Amino acid sequence: MAYNLLKGKKGIIFGALNNMSIAWKVAERAHEEGAELVLTNTPIAIRMGELDELAKSTGSIMIPADATSVSDLENLFSKTMDHFGGQIDFVLHSIGMSPNVRKKLPYDDLNYDFFAKTLDISALSFHKMISAAKKMDAIKEWGSIVALSYIASQRTLFEYNDMADAKAVLESIARSFGYIYGREKHVRINTISQSPTPTTAGQGVKGFSALMDFTERMSPLGNADADECANYCITLFSDLTMKVTMQNLFHDGGFSSMGMSARAMHQYNKSLECKECRQNPLNELTDL
Ligand SMILES: NC(=O)c1ccc[n+]([C@@H]2O[C@H](COP(=O)([O-])OP(=O)(O)OC[C@H]3O[C@@H](n4cnc5c(N)ncnc54)[C@H](O)[C@@H]3O)[C@@H](O)[C@H]2O)c1
Repeated sequence: MAYNLLKGKKGIIFGALNNMSIAWKVAERAHEEGAELVLTNTPIAIRMGELDELAKSTGSIMIPADATSVSDLENLFSKTMDHFGGQIDFVLHSIGMSPNVRKKLPYDDLNYDFFAKTLDISALSFHKMISAAKKMDAIKEWGSIVALSYIASQRTLFEYNDMADAKAVLESIARSFGYIYGREKHVRINTISQSPTPTTAGQGVKGFSALMDFTERMSPLGNADADECANYCITLFSDLTMKVTMQNLFHDGGFSSMGMSARAMHQYNKSLECKECRQNPLNELTDL
């Protein structure tokens, strides 16, 4: 159901790769809510061709930009303003990639060139994007910038690897730049900390299915899916959230506030009752 929440607004969506991408769902919902969009991704992602379908269905244009390149970002904002004939209202940063995760290198034995790439693509690109927009005065007063994060920025989650560090930097950039851009132009900057979601990037994380199952069972409302994340993004682009800024907003069915659930307690007790565990209670733990 559409509420015309973004009627007359114009935005840039970074990071739609295919129809599983969170950014893809956000673009569809933003279009339904009346926004006009520019879609962007790396030149190679755009050449892959899947984005053509989204551009067609949302009446958007596509402008390639590697989000780690300041000149690509300047070109993107300049062409977008030409296209719309003025400033834009909102930007979604939905970008993440870790070569260490791709190569399955463990956190205690990282390749540091890869680590620098992880940080550049997944976190510093957010700073570069906001900085380019601010210098070019590309975003309207009371505009909204949103990036997607994950709870591993604040709690240790096995196998999330150097992406955890990237997300910690990303969330910090939202606060640091949120102060400056808010004070000077009333532009708000937030991150949404989303549940595990089965996308190309999500499924690249080792043990992803088990993690999704765990968080689904631990969260009183269950995991939030990509469509639900898109709905939340729309509220942050809309005029209904004009005084929300510098926040990391959990969108995870309650997972981030849970410690122990009834189900987890039951499972824990059951594991303690097994014969072998009773004989040697440390067996299972020392194996890990
Ligand atoms: N899937 C999850 O479980 C989950 C959970 C919480 C947060 N997130 C975050 O959501 C965001 C979107 O990821 P997704 O899950 O939709 O996966 P996805 O793979 O569909 O999207 C990741 C996007 O990043 C783009 N990208 C990579 N390098 C880039 C670069 N140099 N310049 C521009 N774009 C680049 C990719 O082309 C792709 O479109 C990421 O920030 C991710 O960390 C995902």
